[in-house]
Amino acid sequence: SRTQITIIGAGPAGLTLGHLLQRAGIDTVILESRSRAYVEQRQRAGILEQGTVDVLRASGAGARMDAEGIRHDGIELRFDGESHRIDFPALTGGRSVMVYAQTEVVKDLIALREAPILFEAEALDVTGLDGTSPEVRYRHEGVEHTLVSDAVVACDGFHGIGRTALPSPRVYERTYPYSWLGVLADVAPSCEELIYARHERGFALHSMRTPTVSRLYLQVPNDTDPAAWSDDRIWDELATRMAVDGWSLATGPITSKGVTPMRSLVSEPLRHGRLFLAGDAAHIVPPTGAKGLNLAVADVTLLADALLRWYRKGEESALDAYSGRALARVWRAETFSYEMTTMLHTDPSALPFDDRVRRERLRRAVTSPAASAVLAENYVGAPFEGLW
Ligand code: FAD
Ligand code: DHB
Repeated sequence: SRTQITIIGAGPAGLTLGHLLQRAGIDTVILESRSRAYVEQRQRAGILEQGTVDVLRASGAGARMDAEGIRHDGIELRFDGESHRIDFPALTGGRSVMVYAQTEVVKDLIALREAPILFEAEALDVTGLDGTSPEVRYRHEGVEHTLVSDAVVACDGFHGIGRTALPSPRVYERTYPYSWLGVLADVAPSCEELIYARHERGFALHSMRTPTVSRLYLQVPNDTDPAAWSDDRIWDELATRMAVDGWSLATGPITSKGVTPMRSLVSEPLRHGRLFLAGDAAHIVPPTGAKGLNLAVADVTLLADALLRWYRKGEESALDAYSGRALARVWRAETFSYEMTTMLHTDPSALPFDDRVRRERLRRAVTSPAASAVLAENYVGAPFEGLW
């Protein structure tokens, strides 16, 4: 069969692209290897940048986000037993972020989709990138099919086939000597705003999903088995690492536990012929600073703009410009995520000197107004480019 654009992957990148193109009257087919229930329940990010909020709202996908999302005007940084607030609107000319879970964004976008999404349809390979009718071979309900289109967009995440289909990419990569143990708990958050804590025992983060559900993270060694962490041990460790006078951490039933490794990766360029990469398929950030989902949405906002110019005005140059435009934002976010990660975690393999320098960068971030402004402007993110 044939469509205009084949999208591989129904995560935030693929679903947002499908949504923006649907609004512009361009036909897309989304292939997703997992089931609908699986993608709607996969626990991941929770913070939307101002630009992500703006794109979802302007494209008609923001109704439930506006009703249920929680606007946050700052974060708290804790270290050496003290709390410091970073005030986003004051430091960025009025910008802020929104707490609204990735699971909810995904549900909203799936609900708005008119054309079907082929769930449990695994893309196997992409061919014909150098011609005008690239083909995606996929398996659905045990049968192999081929989908022909004008272009293919790989939004298939870190483990997808998109990145490997691109001939000889340049890959920049770094791993970190620690991971995050993340838990979801049925308890009201013990804070109004997110708390990022640096402690000699390791990093801790207090986030939230709703007024009654908390999301918390602890730095743990790589290859940690979540089963080795009892609920009591998790709560004790969180309380120790986040302790400041006059504050206490409310505990409650933990409903999910998982360990996430930390990685930085950029694969360049984001295009070969009629194949485009977007989101985690092209780049990974460590989670500190919450950039992953937001970069995915920023990529496809640019790409939707480029594809529309190409369809409507024949602008091949718009397609040519996509990779460079997207990568400029990607490297800004990669740098911010790397800096937040190294500044807030304790690195067992670092020189004691380097560890002190990282802590000093944190002190500078809260004492120098210029440094606070750099942190705030990166956290809320630059305005998105594109038609939306
Ligand atoms: P994904 O969401 O990964 O979507 C890719 C989709 O493609 C998936 O649905 C996958 O099933 C599908 N797919 C893969 N291969 C194929 C194939 N061959 N055929 C068809 N479909 C395929 N970011 C934060 O900001 N904060 C966090 O706390 C956070 N936690 C995270 C925890 C984990 C475990 C992971 C993996 C990521 C986390 N992230 C977090 C990052 C953020 O969730 C991602 O950046 C975001 O999901 C990227 O969206 P995406 O659409 O590019 O990729
Ligand atoms: C969340 C994740 C992050 O990586 C972060 O920096 C802030 C919040 C979250 O899952 O809520």
